[in-house]
Amino acid sequence: MSNTLLPYGVSDYLPEGYLKKTALESALKTVFSAFGALPVEPPALDFAENFIFAPGSREYGRMFKFADTDGSLLALRPDPTMQIARIAASQCKAGGPLKFFYSLNSYENSRRRAGARPREFAQIGLEYFNAAGAEADAEIVRVAADALAAAGIQNFRIELGGETPAYLEKLVSLLPAPVKARVEIDPEIARAGYYTGVVFNALAPNCGAPLLEGGRYDDLAARYGKAMPAVGFAIGTARVLESLSRPAAGGGALRIALPKGRLMKEGVKILSACGVDCSGVADDGRVLTAETPDKKIKFIFVKPADAPIYIERGAADIGIAGKDVLLEEGCDVKEVLPLPFGKCRICVAGYAGTDFTGINNLRAATKYPAVAERYFAEKGISADIIKLNGSIELAPVLGMADVIVDIVESGSTLKANGLVVLDEVAPVSAVLIANKVSFKLKRAMIAPLAKKINLLGNEARNF
Ligand code: PRP
Repeated sequence: MSNTLLPYGVSDYLPEGYLKKTALESALKTVFSAFGALPVEPPALDFAENFIFAPGSREYGRMFKFADTDGSLLALRPDPTMQIARIAASQCKAGGPLKFFYSLNSYENSRRRAGARPREFAQIGLEYFNAAGAEADAEIVRVAADALAAAGIQNFRIELGGETPAYLEKLVSLLPAPVKARVEIDPEIARAGYYTGVVFNALAPNCGAPLLEGGRYDDLAARYGKAMPAVGFAIGTARVLESLSRPAAGGGALRIALPKGRLMKEGVKILSACGVDCSGVADDGRVLTAETPDKKIKFIFVKPADAPIYIERGAADIGIAGKDVLLEEGCDVKEVLPLPFGKCRICVAGYAGTDFTGINNLRAATKYPAVAERYFAEKGISADIIKLNGSIELAPVLGMADVIVDIVESGSTLKANGLVVLDEVAPVSAVLIANKVSFKLKRAMIAPLAKKINLLGNEARNF
């Protein structure tokens, strides 16, 4: 029996939240019905092979899988589009257009992590089969915009990519003027998974992740017996609800997360050199926010290990983090540029002459258990990772660990404790990071600042 009420990554909907969720669903269903779409609901439990993700892929790894009583491999739905393509392939008799919408839960067996998506998440979406070309894509983008407007989301933008500029321009020209005004072409949006053509996302300033994701997947239905060009999208119900419940992100100010301690001083120095008024910034441990006199920039003072979490979750737009923290946390943030300070190395250290490759069940103390685990696994070494929060060098000195995996800057802490570097795991520097949505929606503020920082960084490097 677990000592928590519910497994990690799932939650109850209580009456107030449930009513908000169902009100949103019914507003969206009205839009989808007006488009002529019909409702479908595939089962949450299906054969793992009905989802086309290849064993070994990230998506396959994250499916909840288990054996049926007859030994066949079952999975909880990671994404409904494949199941709906299967339904469409079986329902499509006449060959005309088929429009389906759904409102259901999907599942992802993500590891426990501060910024991770819940393991059960609600999605509302639309799939349009036997629909080819830019005209059908434009219809779907238009319905996506109508759906977000009906949900009450203001100031959203839709970004389009995955196709040639000429194709995307044609698509945009087919959109009604109010939708066109919200659309932006971004050739950098990557096409992944089953997408074969245009891909699109909807972004809103008060949500750190896309509210809606979609695209064209012309080859999918053929896998279930009938080739049909198709395009569709899914809306993340919880993300829309979160976005509706949050105050507009910082009232339009640029929110910068600054890690307290070593990196803060250097961060303030470089920001000041870029013309940012940092006079309100004080690392006194009590004041947790500050702003520039013109209120255009808000500073948030965070523990160094937390900076990427605030940024991934959209509570800050950009910030400074050590590469060590990024490697450890594995957060989904944009690494804008390396900064010319915070340079050090993650190393394996211990007593001189220690052959740690030959120690049975090596004991390794570290602040970076994920980094250490990956490092030892790559070397084929089985290690007992001891997670500590600081003063790591004590562990070998007291005989609690054989080695440590830690950052080494000047090397003086190692020296003072009679230890030496045994191997280098990764070089580290401070990095300017950004929330992926903010990076786009607040580009007008972020890009010039990043450019100035980059120039200063290059000067520092050349110096
Ligand atoms: C870090 C790291 C080392 C030390 C390395 O600790 O964990 O102990 O700095 O720097 P050096 O090579 O210049 O001596 P930090 O000062 O962050 O304190 P902590 O041990 O409490 O984590």
